[in-house]
Amino acid sequence: MTQQDISTTLIHHPYKPPEGFDASAPGVHKASTVFFDSVKALREREWKDKSGYTYGLHGTPTTFTLEERIATLEGGAHCVLAPSGLAAISLVDMSFLQQGDELLLPDNVYGPNRAFAEGELLAWGISHRFYDPMDPADLAGMISDKTRLVWLEVPGSVSLEYPDLPALTAVIRDANSRRAKGSRQVLGALDNTWGAGLAFNGFELGADIVMQALTKYPSGGADVLMGSVVTRDPGLHRQILLTHMRLGLGVGANDAELVLRGLASIKTRYAAQDATTRALALWMQQQAPVVKVFHPALEGSPGHAFWQRDAQGAACLFSVVFDESYGQSEVDAFCDRLSLFRLGWSWAGPVSLCAPYAMSRMRTRPWAHAGHLVRFAIGLESVDDLKADLSQALDAMGAPR
Ligand SMILES: Cc1ncc(COP(=O)(O)O)c(C=O)c1O
Repeated sequence: MTQQDISTTLIHHPYKPPEGFDASAPGVHKASTVFFDSVKALREREWKDKSGYTYGLHGTPTTFTLEERIATLEGGAHCVLAPSGLAAISLVDMSFLQQGDELLLPDNVYGPNRAFAEGELLAWGISHRFYDPMDPADLAGMISDKTRLVWLEVPGSVSLEYPDLPALTAVIRDANSRRAKGSRQVLGALDNTWGAGLAFNGFELGADIVMQALTKYPSGGADVLMGSVVTRDPGLHRQILLTHMRLGLGVGANDAELVLRGLASIKTRYAAQDATTRALALWMQQQAPVVKVFHPALEGSPGHAFWQRDAQGAACLFSVVFDESYGQSEVDAFCDRLSLFRLGWSWAGPVSLCAPYAMSRMRTRPWAHAGHLVRFAIGLESVDDLKADLSQALDAMGAPR
């Protein structure tokens, strides 16, 4: 055999992950192509079977490790990763909805979940309606023969009303018990980004499918986008896996590694951000320009009793409504005046964020508050420094008129 060119030698240089090396961080294994030893092995490898590897899209040791850890975090059995939280939402929709089906969404649903239903699903002949998440009877009245999927969100992602999740999932179970044997069941899919798998177990409270934006707490770094869909039922998992493969929603090993790093500190970060958030939410309640604070741990916040009953801890979000004497430009100026709080979307990263929301445009039902709403996402800074920042921006607003 003639001498190989260096380019060939470098590409075919034998490599196996080192044996005898042990450390807490899982290795980062990257691949589109995965090699097979023979044509027989290539033909026989089953991509849905996670005991082997087939192609990068179906997973590498790094993504399989992350899937196992997220399934454990959520108290489920199987996990499928998607390139963002929103991709995980649309994956659930596309896995289970067909032309003629109806989707039910809570009226306070995460905006882009609603936009996907309005902008894509409708065009494919899949309709949707909005139920009042604080009224299980309203959901019960809306489930029809066409209903196939109900999204559940605990709490609503901007106004933070905390629903009675066991009562909502009981409504779904009850509707299924009245469906003819063998007919398609209504599925309850929970967006568990707020609970993060830590505040409560979504499956124990009745969800069939638990989705999470790993972009938020599991990553914790505000530097990666990813989503997960966890199930206990193998049949549901198989359908999600098939749709995931057909859509080609693979995630990269470098991103998976960032989330694996973040997971190690998730519980400590969740508790730390919870403590700072509650302290600031309580303090904001006492400030003259603020007429209402939404945070499930505050008495008087919608659904506080359900939060007390069902959750251990709370995420890093609270929203305030300013006195209606302040116009939008004054509330915008308050946000602009903050310096530690940065303007931007998302939450659960190290940096505190704030953003104004136009509530009346986000609801199908009347929004009860006349003043303008701002949502805060609390990071990992010191509570005193954040309070000082809020304080100077509130002072500059002057007293309500
Ligand atoms: C409640 C909730 N679900 C889903 C998502 C979507 O996550 P991603 O930004 O990774 O698409 C977000 C993002 O803000 C969210 O707040």
